[in-house]
Amino acid sequence: MNPSKSIKMEEITKRKRLILFPIPLEGHMNPMLKLADLLYSKGFSITIIHTQLNSPNPSLHPHFTFRSIPDGLSESEASPKDIVLLFYLFNTKCVQPFKECLSSLLSEEPEVACLISDAIFHFTQSVAESFKLPRFVFETGSMTGYAVFSHFSLLREKGYLPVTQDSQPGKVVTELPPLRIKDLPVIPKGDPEKFFEICVLIASKIAASDGVIFNTFKDLEEQGMAILQKQYPDLPVFPIGPFHDYEEASSTSNQSCISWLNTRAPKSVIYVSFGTIAAITKAQFLEIAWGLSNSNQPFLWVVRPGLVHGSDWLELLPNRFLENLNGRGHIVKWAPQKEVLSHPSVGGFWTHNGWNSTLESVCAGVPMICFPCFGDQMVLARYVSKVWKIGLQYENEIERGEIEATIRKLMEEKEGEEIRDRSLKLMEKANVCCKPGGSSSQCLDALVKHILSYE
Ligand code: UDX
Repeated sequence: MNPSKSIKMEEITKRKRLILFPIPLEGHMNPMLKLADLLYSKGFSITIIHTQLNSPNPSLHPHFTFRSIPDGLSESEASPKDIVLLFYLFNTKCVQPFKECLSSLLSEEPEVACLISDAIFHFTQSVAESFKLPRFVFETGSMTGYAVFSHFSLLREKGYLPVTQDSQPGKVVTELPPLRIKDLPVIPKGDPEKFFEICVLIASKIAASDGVIFNTFKDLEEQGMAILQKQYPDLPVFPIGPFHDYEEASSTSNQSCISWLNTRAPKSVIYVSFGTIAAITKAQFLEIAWGLSNSNQPFLWVVRPGLVHGSDWLELLPNRFLENLNGRGHIVKWAPQKEVLSHPSVGGFWTHNGWNSTLESVCAGVPMICFPCFGDQMVLARYVSKVWKIGLQYENEIERGEIEATIRKLMEEKEGEEIRDRSLKLMEKANVCCKPGGSSSQCLDALVKHILSYE
C-alpha cells in the first residue's frame, strides 16, 4: 500500500463516525468487534449500540463509545436454544429502543457516515432508511452459506424445501451443486416456517442495503461469490477477512490445554469442539468418548457446560475414563481455540463447522472432520469435504467404530495426508490476503472509499 495514500484516507475518515449494531451471540459479537477494530484502524470513530443481553465489556475497547438499549427479553426468551424465536424477538423487541437510540446519536453527532448492522437485525434497514442513513450489513457467516439462504424462495418453489421425511436426502440440488438435500441449512428446533420467513426477510433486507461485508476471503469463496454476484449484480460485496489475520499473534496463554499440548508429538492431536450453541444427546456424547478413546490418538476435547442435553458436564463418562487413558486425553470447558489450532501438536479438528471455527481451521492449515449440527454448518461441511477438500464429512449417526475409523483416516492414512497438504496450501492463501496488496486488504480499502462516497 502507498503510505501517503493511506494517510490521506485517514485524514478524511477521522472526522467520521460509524455506528455498529451486533447481535449479542458470541459467534456474531466477536467478529463485529474485530470489524470495529479494523475500521477504527482506518481512522473512523466507532459507536457500538448493543443490547443489555450479553453486553460487551467497554473496558476492553476503550477507544469505542458504547450505547446500551433495552432488549426486553425475559431470561427464558434470551436462551439460544430456540434460535429462530430468539431472532424473531430481537427483530420485534429491539425496534423502538434502537430507533430512539439512533435518533439521539444522530442529533448529537453530525458526522455519522453509516450504520453497520448484523444481518440478523433485518428491521434496521427500514429504520436506517427513515433516517436517510446508509446501511451496510455485516454477514458473520460465509458467502457460500449466505448464497444458499438467499435462494430459499427458489428452493421452496422447486420443492427442495421444506425438507420432510419424504425428501431424498442424497439428491443433489441441481441449482446449487454439490449440495444435496441433506446439506440444506435446516434447524433442529423451532418452527421451520418461521425459520424460512426470517431467512427470506434477512436476504431481502441485505439486497436492499448499501453493501454487505463478509469475514472471508476471495480465494476461498469463489463459488459463493459467483452465486451471489449472479443473484445480486448491483450489490457491493466486501470480503475483507479473515479478521484475526490482521492482528499480531496473541501472547502465549498459560491455560492447561496449551501446557498439555506442549507434551504431545507434532501433528498427533485431534482437537474436538462444537462451538457455542450446538448440543448433542447423552448417547452421542458416550459414542464420541469411546470413539476418541478407541482411536488411540491423543485428543483435546472441549465439553462446554450445556453441550450435552440434560447433563451438567462430565458425569456421564465411564468411571476412570480419563485416568485409563494415561494422559492421552484432555477435556476442558473452554479452550483458547485459535492458539490451540496453531499449536504444532494439533493435527486435526473435529468441528461442527460454525463459520468462525471453519475459518480459524483454514487459517491454521488444520484438516477437519465435519460434524454439522444445524443451519449454515451443513453447507460448510459439504464445501469443506467436497469443494475445498480439506476435511472428511462425518455422514452417519454417531457411532464409536465409525468415529475411530474416521479419525484414523484423517490422522494416519494416505487420504488424510492429501487433505493435510491441501489444507496447508489453502492456509498460505489465507495468510497473504490481509497483507498490503492482498485481496482482503484491497476490499477493505474499497469499503472505506464506498462508505466515504455517501458524503
Ligand atoms: C454460530 C452458529 O452455530 C454457526 O452456525 C454460525 O456459522 C456462526 O454462529 P458458533 O456455534 O458460535 O456459531 O460457532 P463458531 O462460528 O465456530 O464460533 C465459535 C467461536 O468460539 C470461535 O471463534 C472459536 O474460536 C470460539 N471458541 C469455541 C473458543 O475460543 N473456545 C472454545 O472452547 C470454543
